[in-house]
Amino acid sequence: MTREELKAAAIRMLDRAYCPYSHFPVGAALECADGTVFTGCNIENAAYSVGICAERTAMSKAISEGHRDFARIVIAGRSEDYCVPCGMCRQFMQEFSPQIEVICLNGRGEEKAFPLKELLPHGFDHSFL
Ligand code: THU
Repeated sequence: MTREELKAAAIRMLDRAYCPYSHFPVGAALECADGTVFTGCNIENAAYSVGICAERTAMSKAISEGHRDFARIVIAGRSEDYCVPCGMCRQFMQEFSPQIEVICLNGRGEEKAFPLKELLPHGFDHSFL
């Protein structure tokens, strides 16, 4: 899938977001090293802390289908600013693919891309245990 197609897949997922509490839809499209793509959206809950971000939805789908090697992830929002991943999602990504490229979109579909290492410097991983 091209970068533009991956971005379009993340943007399409905005319509699947379940976000009646924050009214902040997020879509994600995760590309694995072998090219397989998994998508996700944020899914909120009346018990707020039970909600899950779009990125972790996509990564959980991938992992549960046997994919752990992630090349890049697009995160789409509708806000003015670029939709960056929360700290929990950064840590979740690092567990499986510290080299992942994180591509953040704003509501206009413009991108800002980061290596995960820039978003999560000095991250905690298995080597500490
Ligand atoms: N959210 C995501 O799904 N991904 C992000 O990168 C940032 C935040 C969700 C969580 C919650 O449903 C809503 O956006 C507002 O925080």
